Amino acid sequence: MTMVRYEVRGHIALATIDNPPVNALSAAVRAGLAEAIQRANADAAAVAVVIAATGKAFIAGADISEFGKPPVAPLLPDVLDAIARSRKPVVAAIQGVALGGGLEVALACQGRVALASAKLGLPEIKLGLIPGAGGTQRLPRLIGAAKAFPMMLSGEPITAGQALEYGLLDEVVSGDVVAAAVRLAEVLAEEGRGPLAHATERLTEADHEAFELLAGEALRKAEGMPNVPALVEAVRSLFRMPFEEGLKVERRLFLELVADERSKALRHVFFAEREVAKVPGVGPEVQPREIRSAAVIGAGTMGGGIAMCFANAGIPVTLIETAQAPLDNGMNRIAAIYDISVQRGSLTPEARAQRLKRITPAVGLIAAATADIVIEAAFEEIGVKRDIFTGLDKVAKPGAVLASNTSYLDIPTIAAVTSRPQDVLGMHFFSPANVMKLLEIVRTQEVAADAIATAVALGRKLGKVPVVVGNGFGFVGNRMLEQRTRATERLLVAGALPHEIDAALTGFGFKMGPCAMADLAGLDIGWRSRKARGIKAAVADAICEAGWLGQKTGRGYYLYPQGARVGQRDPEVEALIARISAERGLTRRPFSQEEILARLLDPMVNEGARILAEGIATRPGDIDVVWIHGYNWPAWRGGPMFWADSVGLDVIAKRLAAQAEEIGDKALEPAPLLKRLAAEGRGFGSLKS
Ligand code: 3HC
Repeated sequence: MTMVRYEVRGHIALATIDNPPVNALSAAVRAGLAEAIQRANADAAAVAVVIAATGKAFIAGADISEFGKPPVAPLLPDVLDAIARSRKPVVAAIQGVALGGGLEVALACQGRVALASAKLGLPEIKLGLIPGAGGTQRLPRLIGAAKAFPMMLSGEPITAGQALEYGLLDEVVSGDVVAAAVRLAEVLAEEGRGPLAHATERLTEADHEAFELLAGEALRKAEGMPNVPALVEAVRSLFRMPFEEGLKVERRLFLELVADERSKALRHVFFAEREVAKVPGVGPEVQPREIRSAAVIGAGTMGGGIAMCFANAGIPVTLIETAQAPLDNGMNRIAAIYDISVQRGSLTPEARAQRLKRITPAVGLIAAATADIVIEAAFEEIGVKRDIFTGLDKVAKPGAVLASNTSYLDIPTIAAVTSRPQDVLGMHFFSPANVMKLLEIVRTQEVAADAIATAVALGRKLGKVPVVVGNGFGFVGNRMLEQRTRATERLLVAGALPHEIDAALTGFGFKMGPCAMADLAGLDIGWRSRKARGIKAAVADAICEAGWLGQKTGRGYYLYPQGARVGQRDPEVEALIARISAERGLTRRPFSQEEILARLLDPMVNEGARILAEGIATRPGDIDVVWIHGYNWPAWRGGPMFWADSVGLDVIAKRLAAQAEEIGDKALEPAPLLKRLAAEGRGFGSLKS
């Protein structure tokens, strides 16, 4: 099957790419393009060539699924070389997006025309890569390194209008882009344009200096990602060597990065994020219900944050409380958060006013009567939730989706108080709700497929990454987090100190370790939850009993003198921990950072295996997405299940078994799924097929 159609229109050869859904440059597309260029050059009927594409994208770049597999000829750089060397001028007709290799195709052409709605970018950096088919050498030659480098560094696409201004495009049109490209191709043929010259006039001394300034800043902020220095090196070579040599530098660096574990992890995340959208039992035939208005119950931190999500997405929302005072507090808190955004310059005062206007404060559940979706974000107590849902059942309009933002509680128990369990599900936002991308959507046995589809579609509209999960204590994220919390407590008692535990996780790439995190959130949260469930955690309980509840009280696992945000080691806490170890007759021993990391993460992976076996998560990649978007797991580590595969499940199973025996805790024994995969020499990734 040919993926590039060839025809001649007037005197112009037209090569149209048709590789749905996004015209990725698969081997077949590359071969088709190379053939079209060759054919056009030999075709007496054609004086120039236009490369166009069908569908929503011009070209979304290299086919990411081919990375890491043996390369299949023709390689993209060779195809682009053929385009650039074409004796007959080639023009790109860009509609939709031209990304990565897609933009590089356009850059190898003599001319570029785009629809006004088109977007152009080099997003390779987000996959842990750099442009690998001439982008680092050709884009700066066209628009200057000072403009090209930030595009490659951020990976964010620019609009056609902006691209025209930069000189990246010859023309922007709003009608027929192919016709416009054909016209340009005729002009270029008339001018007698031949192979692409490697212009250097944009590469001035001033451009070099401006680039070096930006490069220095980028290197300072690179946070250990190897593609940032690689990008700098590739662009720098522009100013130091001829085009062909620069291309070689870029290619070498690109191939090194493709083989790097960090890029593999980011590619895994790219596909996992897309797969998560495929929900078993909720096919494309299931139509989501329309959401024109929403209500949020509870104007606390979570409720307020959720209301902001709606307001930010342009959906009117009613924020409901039981009394005026908490409602006023909630609205003030929201206004204050928007104020900070205005002060930072990320929000205009007009937009702030508009968003606030979309939030209507109200007292009493009756205000939820007209909402298409109601999200309850009240106190985390089953009785409270059941009362609210009993009331909602009476007032909410038929067909409204009724969601609870509970982090742990049983959704069917909540749904059971209503006459409409088919409309009830969990929508678990993460704190701060207006910032964190993860949204766990909790499905029950009774909930209707279109209610789930509604929550998923809404989640996307709110800018979230929705992950549909099964019902069960803590769902996916918090259930695994609990394992890490327990591991932290075990490590403290056995000999590690808070700063050592936190350093192991920040060294791994987390922004914060568990102790600093608990201090930030408030230690009373976990304390209350443990008390409700009759669970003890000697160290955490003792710290709470001392009245040290974290940052808000100036001390927790750490000391926070004069409102400091970064904690200092607290000798009193360390002595308290040592006392607890002694009371248990334990001889404290030092733990290496590696051992701490394994002890924190292995039990999470083990729980992940149980979650998969129980069907609470559909795929290992879903768990990875949960941890990346809800708990700041470093994306370049791919998520806990991907990480486990990279360590080796046999290694993790052995470590868990050894720990289970040492501590005498059966819960730490490898879960059956983990054990089976380890014995078969497989990883979680192999479960996909
Ligand atoms: N390779 C392979 N598959 C791709 C792809 C790519 N470059 N881009 C998208 N897809 C697939 C997705 O996996 C998804 O598949 P599925 O339907 O089976 O899940 C399908 O295309 C649709 O993608 P989205 O769900 O993301 O659709 P959207 O409409 O939301 O977004 C998009 C479209 C903006 C093109 C987005 O997919 C995107 O950003 N793609 C990646 C772009 C990119 O990173 N390109 C650079 C690649 S690296 C490169 O080019 C190296 C070069 O320099 C040598």
